[in-house]
Amino acid sequence: MKTTSAHLGSALLVLLIVSACGGEEAQVSTGENVSSKASIPEESRKLYKAFCSLCHGQTGTGDGASAVALEPKPRNYQDKEWQTSVSDAQLTKTILYGGQAVGLSASMPPRQDLIDKPEVVAGLVQIIRNFGE
Ligand code: HEC
Repeated sequence: MKTTSAHLGSALLVLLIVSACGGEEAQVSTGENVSSKASIPEESRKLYKAFCSLCHGQTGTGDGASAVALEPKPRNYQDKEWQTSVSDAQLTKTILYGGQAVGLSASMPPRQDLIDKPEVVAGLVQIIRNFGE
């Protein structure tokens, strides 16, 4: 019983340290990022997980199962240089109208059904941005 509570105690301590660090990190990064991270709609997260990740991978590196057959492959979203080279407007256009519309591979499917859901698209763009942090 003593050991269990000791373990529980250290587990709690670890949790406290982790959350304390998380808080510090959030303060260091710009307020803008923190608030947009918090505001990513659930629908965007679900869509990324269930659909986009098939090609782009759960961590945005382009290693989704369906990417194996693709050429060119989806790029690595963790690439910071690429992140700064592309605007949110470009990403939005690619998501809505597909790769072909912006001179990229037609394997990147259009999602014009999302035109009426700008907040979901903005959430997807933010998810892509977060991979680069
Ligand atoms: C069937 C595979 C596939 C799916 C599903 C897919 N993509 Fe893509 N996507 C690609 C490929 C391949 C490229 C790269 C095209 C190129 O570089 O020519 C791409 C490119 C992109 C780009 C442009 C990045 C750049 O290089 O400028 C964005 C943004 C993007 N995808 C977002 C998404 C989002 C968000 C979803 C989910 C709504 C999604 N994709 C679903 C295959 C896919």
